[in-house]
Amino acid sequence: MTRTPLIAGNWKMHKTIAEAEAFIQALLPRVAAARSDVAICPPFTALGAMVDSARGSGVHVYAQNVHEAGSGAFTGEVSPPMLVELDVHGAIVGHSERRQLFGETDRALQAKVPALLDAGLVPILCVGETEEEREAEQTQRKLRQQVREALAKVDDARLADVVIAYEPIWAIGTGKVATPEQAQDAIAFVRALVNDRSRAAGDAVRVLYGGSVKPDNAAELLALPDVDGALVGGASLDAESFAAIVAAA
Ligand code: 13P
Repeated sequence: MTRTPLIAGNWKMHKTIAEAEAFIQALLPRVAAARSDVAICPPFTALGAMVDSARGSGVHVYAQNVHEAGSGAFTGEVSPPMLVELDVHGAIVGHSERRQLFGETDRALQAKVPALLDAGLVPILCVGETEEEREAEQTQRKLRQQVREALAKVDDARLADVVIAYEPIWAIGTGKVATPEQAQDAIAFVRALVNDRSRAAGDAVRVLYGGSVKPDNAAELLALPDVDGALVGGASLDAESFAAIVAAA
């Protein structure tokens, strides 16, 4: 089974449209020969501009969140059809910052993941344990719960269309990257959870690593057998360092 690696940059709440434009103009020539899939995840306000600027380049544009409903009385939210209209490729869901700071639940993800797939969008589902959970040897329990719950309403035939990002919370924005063994073990475990649902889907599903990925540690992580790419935060804000991570894939 060959899985095309995906390097995705999660900008979080960074970059105005003007800053995003400067970034994409610097990025495109640097990733023109990339053999992996490349994606950026700008804030909602810059999505349309980035789709236009990246058109024809092979760089995909993802949102950082989505609501599960098509429309409704949900002040401040954005729906899958609204992303489709912009020609956005998919959306991150379940990022630990959304879970911790904005109350996103496994139950909400159970609706968001199929809603994205039904709209023709690619979900990047984030999962990962806290430092306390790792120290208490609860990592597998946490991953099992998050993966099973979020994928519960996805048909077996669509499971491989989901991208899963394993992001240990203690590694996000801390500079404290998972060891290759920790990343490989957790990501193989996530893949095995999908295998439990469907052998073929488990073999095909892409599982990314996220958490303090930088140009100098990317190659080692991306060479691990079950790691199919990276979800990059801080290092994705600079075109040169993001392109260096793409090159490492
Ligand atoms: P950092 O790469 O800044 O640790 O962020 C990781 C992340 O949260 C990507 O979604």
